[in-house]
Amino acid sequence: MVALVPAAGRGLRLGADVPKAFARLRGRSLLSHAVGGLLGSGCVDRVVVAVGADDGALAEAALGDVTSQDASPQLVRQRVRLVIGGSERIDSVRAALDVVGGAEVILVHDAARCLVPLSVIRSVVEAVRAGHHAVIPVLPVADTVKQVDDSGVVIATVDRTALRVVQTPQAFEAGLLRRAYADAGGLATDDAGLVERLGQTVTTVPGHPHAFKITTAFDLTVAEALAGDR
Ligand code: CTP
Ligand code: MG
Repeated sequence: MVALVPAAGRGLRLGADVPKAFARLRGRSLLSHAVGGLLGSGCVDRVVVAVGADDGALAEAALGDVTSQDASPQLVRQRVRLVIGGSERIDSVRAALDVVGGAEVILVHDAARCLVPLSVIRSVVEAVRAGHHAVIPVLPVADTVKQVDDSGVVIATVDRTALRVVQTPQAFEAGLLRRAYADAGGLATDDAGLVERLGQTVTTVPGHPHAFKITTAFDLTVAEALAGDR
Protein backbone atom coordinates (compact mmCIF):
# COMPACT_ATOMS: atom_id res chain seq x y z
CA MET A 1 0.00 0.00 0.00
CA VAL A 2 1.34 3.40 -1.00
CA ALA A 3 0.26 6.74 0.46
CA LEU A 4 0.76 10.03 -1.37
CA VAL A 5 1.10 13.03 0.93
CA PRO A 6 0.70 16.49 -0.59
CA ALA A 7 2.76 18.78 1.66
CA ALA A 8 3.88 21.45 -0.79
CA GLY A 9 1.39 24.17 0.14
CA ARG A 10 2.52 27.52 1.50
CA GLY A 11 0.18 27.64 4.46
CA LEU A 12 -0.87 31.23 3.84
CA ARG A 13 -3.93 31.01 6.08
CA LEU A 14 -1.86 29.60 8.94
CA GLY A 15 0.67 32.40 8.52
CA ALA A 16 3.59 30.61 10.22
CA ASP A 17 7.19 31.47 9.33
CA VAL A 18 7.57 28.10 7.56
CA PRO A 19 5.30 26.27 5.11
CA LYS A 20 2.40 24.67 7.00
CA ALA A 21 3.69 21.09 6.73
CA PHE A 22 6.71 22.17 8.79
CA ALA A 23 4.83 24.10 11.46
CA ARG A 24 5.39 22.55 14.89
CA LEU A 25 2.81 20.59 16.82
CA ARG A 26 4.05 19.34 20.20
CA GLY A 27 7.66 19.61 19.08
CA ARG A 28 7.32 17.83 15.73
CA SER A 29 6.25 19.10 12.33
CA LEU A 30 2.78 18.37 10.95
CA LEU A 31 4.48 16.32 8.22
CA SER A 32 6.28 14.21 10.79
CA HIS A 33 3.00 13.46 12.58
CA ALA A 34 1.26 12.68 9.27
CA VAL A 35 3.94 10.28 8.00
CA GLY A 36 4.22 8.64 11.41
CA GLY A 37 0.48 8.04 11.49
CA LEU A 38 0.44 6.46 8.04
CA LEU A 39 3.42 4.17 8.70
CA GLY A 40 2.10 3.39 12.17
CA SER A 41 -1.30 2.32 10.81
CA GLY A 42 0.14 -1.00 9.74
CA CYS A 43 -1.51 -0.74 6.31
CA VAL A 44 0.93 1.61 4.57
CA ASP A 45 4.31 0.29 3.35
CA ARG A 46 5.54 3.25 1.35
CA VAL A 47 4.89 6.99 1.39
CA VAL A 48 5.60 9.57 -1.30
CA VAL A 49 5.64 13.12 0.03
CA ALA A 50 5.41 16.15 -2.26
CA VAL A 51 7.15 19.20 -0.80
CA GLY A 52 8.03 22.67 -2.04
CA ALA A 53 11.13 23.01 -4.22
CA ASP A 54 13.01 24.84 -1.45
CA ASP A 55 11.85 22.59 1.39
CA GLY A 56 14.09 19.54 0.96
CA ALA A 57 16.11 20.19 4.15
CA LEU A 58 12.97 20.84 6.21
CA ALA A 59 11.45 17.65 4.85
CA GLU A 60 14.51 15.54 5.71
CA ALA A 61 14.42 16.94 9.24
CA ALA A 62 10.69 16.15 9.50
CA LEU A 63 11.29 12.54 8.47
CA GLY A 64 14.07 12.31 11.04
CA ASP A 65 11.53 13.28 13.71
CA VAL A 66 9.08 10.49 12.91
CA THR A 67 9.02 8.77 16.28
CA SER A 68 10.63 5.41 16.85
CA GLN A 69 7.35 3.85 17.94
CA ASP A 70 6.23 4.21 14.32
CA ALA A 71 9.45 2.68 12.90
CA SER A 72 13.23 3.07 13.25
CA PRO A 73 14.67 6.23 11.61
CA GLN A 74 16.46 4.16 8.98
CA LEU A 75 13.32 2.25 8.13
CA VAL A 76 11.29 5.45 7.91
CA ARG A 77 13.79 6.94 5.47
CA GLN A 78 13.77 3.76 3.35
CA ARG A 79 10.01 3.78 3.15
CA VAL A 80 9.50 7.46 2.34
CA ARG A 81 10.32 9.17 -0.93
CA LEU A 82 10.36 12.94 -1.40
CA VAL A 83 9.34 14.63 -4.64
CA ILE A 84 8.92 18.29 -5.55
CA GLY A 85 5.29 19.37 -5.61
CA GLY A 86 3.59 21.92 -7.83
CA SER A 87 1.74 25.21 -7.60
CA GLU A 88 -1.67 23.63 -6.88
CA ARG A 89 -2.50 20.61 -4.73
CA ILE A 90 -3.48 18.64 -7.82
CA ASP A 91 0.01 19.25 -9.28
CA SER A 92 1.62 18.01 -6.07
CA VAL A 93 -0.46 14.83 -6.01
CA ARG A 94 0.32 14.24 -9.68
CA ALA A 95 4.07 14.63 -9.03
CA ALA A 96 3.84 12.00 -6.29
CA LEU A 97 1.67 9.71 -8.42
CA ASP A 98 4.24 9.89 -11.22
CA VAL A 99 6.89 8.11 -9.14
CA VAL A 100 4.65 5.39 -7.69
CA GLY A 101 5.45 2.03 -9.20
CA GLY A 102 3.15 -0.95 -9.11
CA ALA A 103 0.67 -0.50 -6.30
CA GLU A 104 -2.86 -1.88 -6.30
CA VAL A 105 -4.27 0.64 -3.87
CA ILE A 106 -3.19 4.24 -3.41
CA LEU A 107 -4.09 6.52 -0.52
CA VAL A 108 -3.95 10.30 -0.81
CA HIS A 109 -3.62 12.10 2.52
CA ASP A 110 -3.13 15.78 3.34
CA ALA A 111 -0.12 16.51 5.55
CA ALA A 112 -2.38 19.10 7.17
CA ARG A 113 -4.72 16.34 8.51
CA CYS A 114 -1.94 14.97 10.64
CA LEU A 115 -4.08 13.82 13.59
CA VAL A 116 -6.28 11.43 11.60
CA PRO A 117 -7.00 8.40 13.80
CA LEU A 118 -5.56 5.07 12.73
CA SER A 119 -9.11 3.71 12.61
CA VAL A 120 -9.98 6.04 9.72
CA ILE A 121 -6.89 5.02 7.75
CA ARG A 122 -7.78 1.39 8.28
CA SER A 123 -11.42 1.78 7.35
CA VAL A 124 -10.77 3.42 3.95
CA VAL A 125 -8.19 0.72 3.19
CA GLU A 126 -10.57 -2.05 4.22
CA ALA A 127 -13.35 -0.62 2.06
CA VAL A 128 -11.10 -0.59 -1.01
CA ARG A 129 -9.87 -4.08 -0.26
CA ALA A 130 -13.54 -5.13 -0.04
CA GLY A 131 -14.00 -4.07 -3.65
CA HIS A 132 -14.95 -0.38 -3.62
CA HIS A 133 -12.82 1.54 -6.14
CA ALA A 134 -12.82 4.97 -4.51
CA VAL A 135 -13.47 5.55 -0.80
CA ILE A 136 -13.56 8.79 1.18
CA PRO A 137 -14.08 9.55 4.89
CA VAL A 138 -16.92 12.00 5.54
CA LEU A 139 -18.77 13.68 8.39
CA PRO A 140 -22.30 15.06 8.56
CA VAL A 141 -22.69 18.84 8.55
CA ALA A 142 -23.37 20.02 12.09
CA ASP A 143 -24.36 23.62 11.39
CA THR A 144 -27.37 24.94 9.54
CA VAL A 145 -26.30 25.81 6.00
CA LYS A 146 -27.66 28.77 4.03
CA GLN A 147 -27.16 29.86 0.45
CA VAL A 148 -26.61 33.63 0.08
CA ASP A 149 -26.36 36.08 -2.79
CA ASP A 150 -23.37 38.35 -3.57
CA SER A 151 -24.45 40.88 -0.95
CA GLY A 152 -24.89 38.26 1.77
CA VAL A 153 -28.69 38.14 1.70
CA VAL A 154 -30.11 34.67 2.30
CA ILE A 155 -31.57 32.94 -0.75
CA ALA A 156 -32.39 29.62 0.86
CA THR A 157 -31.75 27.27 3.75
CA VAL A 158 -30.06 24.22 2.28
CA ASP A 159 -31.24 20.76 3.32
CA ARG A 160 -28.13 19.53 5.06
CA THR A 161 -29.25 15.94 5.59
CA ALA A 162 -27.65 14.87 2.30
CA LEU A 163 -24.51 17.02 2.73
CA ARG A 164 -21.17 15.72 4.00
CA VAL A 165 -17.81 17.33 4.67
CA VAL A 166 -14.93 15.38 3.20
CA GLN A 167 -11.65 14.36 4.79
CA THR A 168 -8.55 12.36 3.89
CA PRO A 169 -7.05 9.79 3.52
CA GLN A 170 -8.96 8.95 0.36
CA ALA A 171 -8.31 5.46 -1.01
CA PHE A 172 -8.38 4.44 -4.65
CA GLU A 173 -7.88 1.45 -6.83
CA ALA A 174 -4.61 2.55 -8.45
CA GLY A 175 -5.68 2.30 -12.07
CA LEU A 176 -8.76 4.41 -11.44
CA LEU A 177 -6.75 7.16 -9.72
CA ARG A 178 -4.29 7.19 -12.63
CA ARG A 179 -7.12 7.51 -15.14
CA ALA A 180 -8.66 10.31 -13.09
CA TYR A 181 -5.38 12.23 -13.08
CA ALA A 182 -4.72 11.54 -16.77
CA ASP A 183 -8.07 13.18 -17.61
CA ALA A 184 -7.87 15.92 -14.98
CA GLY A 185 -8.48 19.35 -16.40
CA GLY A 186 -8.98 22.42 -14.24
CA LEU A 187 -9.07 22.37 -10.49
CA ALA A 188 -10.61 19.91 -8.07
CA THR A 189 -10.46 20.39 -4.31
CA ASP A 190 -10.16 16.69 -3.65
CA ASP A 191 -9.00 13.60 -5.49
CA ALA A 192 -12.38 11.88 -5.43
CA GLY A 193 -13.75 14.83 -7.41
CA LEU A 194 -11.62 13.75 -10.35
CA VAL A 195 -12.96 10.20 -10.08
CA GLU A 196 -16.53 11.56 -10.04
CA ARG A 197 -15.82 13.34 -13.33
CA LEU A 198 -15.08 9.95 -14.87
CA GLY A 199 -18.59 8.92 -13.87
CA GLN A 200 -17.22 6.38 -11.39
CA THR A 201 -18.78 5.62 -8.01
CA VAL A 202 -17.23 7.12 -4.89
CA THR A 203 -18.12 5.40 -1.61
CA THR A 204 -18.12 7.03 1.82
CA VAL A 205 -17.09 5.71 5.24
CA PRO A 206 -17.40 7.57 8.56
CA GLY A 207 -14.65 10.12 9.11
CA HIS A 208 -13.56 11.46 12.50
CA PRO A 209 -13.39 14.96 14.03
CA HIS A 210 -9.65 14.49 14.65
CA ALA A 211 -9.10 14.17 10.88
CA PHE A 212 -9.87 17.90 10.52
CA LYS A 213 -7.54 19.95 8.32
CA ILE A 214 -5.25 22.33 10.16
CA THR A 215 -5.79 25.51 8.20
CA THR A 216 -5.61 28.46 10.62
CA ALA A 217 -3.82 29.34 13.86
CA PHE A 218 -7.06 28.44 15.67
CA ASP A 219 -6.87 24.93 14.22
CA LEU A 220 -3.27 24.56 15.34
CA THR A 221 -4.30 25.49 18.89
CA VAL A 222 -7.04 22.85 18.78
CA ALA A 223 -4.53 20.32 17.44
CA GLU A 224 -2.13 21.08 20.30
CA ALA A 225 -4.89 20.21 22.73
CA LEU A 226 -5.71 16.96 20.91
CA ALA A 227 -2.21 15.78 20.05
CA GLY A 228 -1.56 14.40 23.52
CA ASP A 229 -3.90 11.52 22.72
CA ARG A 230 -1.71 10.44 19.84
N1 CTP B 1 -0.72 21.24 -0.99
C1 CTP B 1 0.29 20.81 -1.86
N2 CTP B 1 0.64 21.58 -2.93
C2 CTP B 1 0.03 22.75 -3.17
C3 CTP B 1 -1.00 23.20 -2.31
C4 CTP B 1 -1.36 22.41 -1.22
O1 CTP B 1 0.86 19.74 -1.66
N3 CTP B 1 0.43 23.48 -4.22
C5 CTP B 1 -1.04 20.43 0.19
C6 CTP B 1 -0.83 21.20 1.49
O2 CTP B 1 0.55 21.14 1.87
C7 CTP B 1 -1.77 20.50 2.45
C8 CTP B 1 -2.88 19.99 1.53
O3 CTP B 1 -2.41 20.10 0.19
O4 CTP B 1 -1.15 19.39 3.11
C9 CTP B 1 -4.17 20.78 1.72
O5 CTP B 1 -3.96 22.13 1.31
P1 CTP B 1 -4.23 23.41 2.22
O6 CTP B 1 -4.80 23.02 3.52
O7 CTP B 1 -4.89 24.43 1.37
O8 CTP B 1 -2.71 23.89 2.56
P2 CTP B 1 -1.93 25.13 2.01
O9 CTP B 1 -2.18 25.31 0.56
O10 CTP B 1 -0.52 24.97 2.47
O11 CTP B 1 -2.59 26.34 2.86
P3 CTP B 1 -3.15 27.76 2.31
O12 CTP B 1 -4.20 27.39 1.28
O13 CTP B 1 -3.68 28.41 3.52
O14 CTP B 1 -1.95 28.47 1.72
MG1 MG C 1 -4.18 25.75 -0.15
